[in-house]
Amino acid sequence: MLNATMRAIVYSETGTSSVLRLVERPEPVAGPGEVVVRVIRAGVNPTDWKFRSGIAAIDDEVSPGQDGAGTVEAVGPGVDNLAVGDRVWLAMAQHGRPYGTAVELTAQPANHVAPLPDTASFDLGAALGVPFITAHRLLTSGTVERLAPGALAGQTVLVAGGAGAVGNAAIQLARWAGAAVVTTVSSPEKAALASAAGAQHVVNYREGDPAAAILAVAPEGVDLVAEVAPAANALLDLAVTRVHGTVAIYANNGGNELVLPIRETYSKNLRFQFTILYTLAEPLLQAAIQDITAALTDNALGAGEEAGLPLHHFDLSKTADAHDAVEGGAVGKVLLDLA
Ligand SMILES: NC(=O)c1ccc[n+]([C@@H]2O[C@H](COP(=O)([O-])OP(=O)(O)OC[C@H]3O[C@@H](n4cnc5c(N)ncnc54)[C@H](OP(=O)(O)O)[C@@H]3O)[C@@H](O)[C@H]2O)c1
Repeated sequence: MLNATMRAIVYSETGTSSVLRLVERPEPVAGPGEVVVRVIRAGVNPTDWKFRSGIAAIDDEVSPGQDGAGTVEAVGPGVDNLAVGDRVWLAMAQHGRPYGTAVELTAQPANHVAPLPDTASFDLGAALGVPFITAHRLLTSGTVERLAPGALAGQTVLVAGGAGAVGNAAIQLARWAGAAVVTTVSSPEKAALASAAGAQHVVNYREGDPAAAILAVAPEGVDLVAEVAPAANALLDLAVTRVHGTVAIYANNGGNELVLPIRETYSKNLRFQFTILYTLAEPLLQAAIQDITAALTDNALGAGEEAGLPLHHFDLSKTADAHDAVEGGAVGKVLLDLA
């Protein structure tokens, strides 16, 4: 008997997007504690092209993609929280396993597969994963461990780069949790997107005096900074963060070395929290999955221009173009259509 096959995007050597190939591979089987998900939409993130381009050696054939949404196709032994047909979104799908979400069917540990309410589109489900889990960790780097309505009430969060995918997620989650949000952008178009995401105050960091503009809306300083470009923004963050505030760092956009004046930094009792999803402790990941799902259930999250996150759809066969779009700085969310 011939095994059923599925379409998959794979690479077996790292390099430019030309290493990505559309192939047929055997359909996966749900092992103990796993479910097989039929991927309807996959989300593409910078991490996908960075790993494909060779920041780490690969042992196996890889199918890229941490993020996606779809329906449960099969349930393995020992899984009792999900059933065939459930709509779901995926967390860290290609972490610790060679096959991620650029495949029609993916086998995943059930605790990384979360319910997607009927009110949430598959586009939104595929946009969650990496950006929203990162944003959750950033926002829980200060005074709270969990996000819920009111958790950040009375606090002001500065989101650097509010038109980026993680920036957008940080704005949406911070607003759901009750924070006031000020964000920085580089153009009027990005300002409009950050406002659509929910930021109450938007500052163009390339014009005038950004620190003065931020302190005008947060005179005591902001409670927490979600920082994408720490090397470029170190002195700005120092100037606008309040005493006992937190600078939560998740990327090295704009420079690889962070230089801080030590006395001015300890004078404010600042806390610096660095974040990367690949070594994030499982309980922190589970907290993020649960809180993001709660925000979804509250109808508090969105994807698309109206949520400040324009969508760019690519057919699975055009995954190379999708990777190039993300690498080229596409504004919004790049998605792969599988069905
Ligand atoms: N640590 C982790 O686990 C983790 C998780 C997710 C993402 N990341 C990394 O985080 C970065 C962003 O990811 P993404 O998906 O959000 O990318 P994205 O959608 O391309 O957004 C990047 C944003 O950074 C902004 N930016 C760059 N320099 C800035 C500056 N000096 N001040 C303020 N904003 C600045 C850009 O805005 P302008 O064009 O307006 O400057 C852009 O909106 C990538 O490097 C990614 O690899 C890391």
